[in-house]
Amino acid sequence: MREITKLQSAVDKAYQNFRHDNSGANADYIPFLAQIDSQLCALSIVTVQGDVITAGDTQYRFALESISKVCTLALALEDYDANTIQEKIGATPTGLPFNSVMALELHGEKPLSPLVNAGAMSAASIIKAQSIEERWQRILAIQQKLGSKDIYLSDELNQSEQTTNFHNRGIAWLLYSAGYLYCDTMEACDVYTRQCSTLVTTVELATMGATIASGGKNPITQEQVLKPDNCTRILAEMTMEGMYDSSGDWAYTVGLPSKSGVGGGILTIIPGVMAIAAFSPPLDTVGNSVRGQKMITSVAKELDYNLYKCI
Ligand code: DON
Repeated sequence: MREITKLQSAVDKAYQNFRHDNSGANADYIPFLAQIDSQLCALSIVTVQGDVITAGDTQYRFALESISKVCTLALALEDYDANTIQEKIGATPTGLPFNSVMALELHGEKPLSPLVNAGAMSAASIIKAQSIEERWQRILAIQQKLGSKDIYLSDELNQSEQTTNFHNRGIAWLLYSAGYLYCDTMEACDVYTRQCSTLVTTVELATMGATIASGGKNPITQEQVLKPDNCTRILAEMTMEGMYDSSGDWAYTVGLPSKSGVGGGILTIIPGVMAIAAFSPPLDTVGNSVRGQKMITSVAKELDYNLYKCI
């Protein structure tokens, strides 16, 4: 079977098998997310050659949420270097929920991972910028360069998050008290909240992943966005913390670096080959899309991809 036909048939099969799975529930601690249609479901692949394969609601724009942490980490790595980010933020899984205060308390308030809320605020705060607006524009620009110039901030979602993000504000002050925030405390929280409030399609999300999969070159625009070595670090972080407290189980069962968001998106990367992006709002108790996990697991198994496969 021709390669593209094989990819399309794996995507179609996964989408058809799981689009009506009714387990899980929309995130409701962000009011905007609670009212999104739970039946929405989309699955896309973008290869490092720039081939695009899709099924379902692939025109629908959903909240990037925590997947934005990958983009901000990428920019932080470009602004500094891998060792500095490891020292100033960390590079180790917390094994605890994405917004855990206990995780901070156990480690002298060091965030450990740039892919949990604390580490993501720390990463947003370390981006080189003279003002809050410059910090935000640089973070939006990296999302656009990795994914698509059409990615934009939803004012409605941002408003919904900015008026309910009290827990994150608390985390930001804890980080500040221990010296792990590198700009004004509420600036870091504000910009982090904005970065979560952009809207993407699964094709744009898969393009972000394909850019990382190809060592930093966007396969659609051909722009070299990231250094190849930084992509290696990002993939390690995604493996360790990308699916939050179920990252270990995900590595054990699927074996591919991934990142989820409470908007219902999941991005999975097959280094050197392609990225798979899934979207469906209902989440499991950890905060990962239920249909998204099932569809990606199905595609990975069908195409026989697992980073830890020996023969
Ligand atoms: O800060 C938050 O809680 C949300 N804006 C993003 C959290 C998130 O997506 C975690 N994902 N599983």
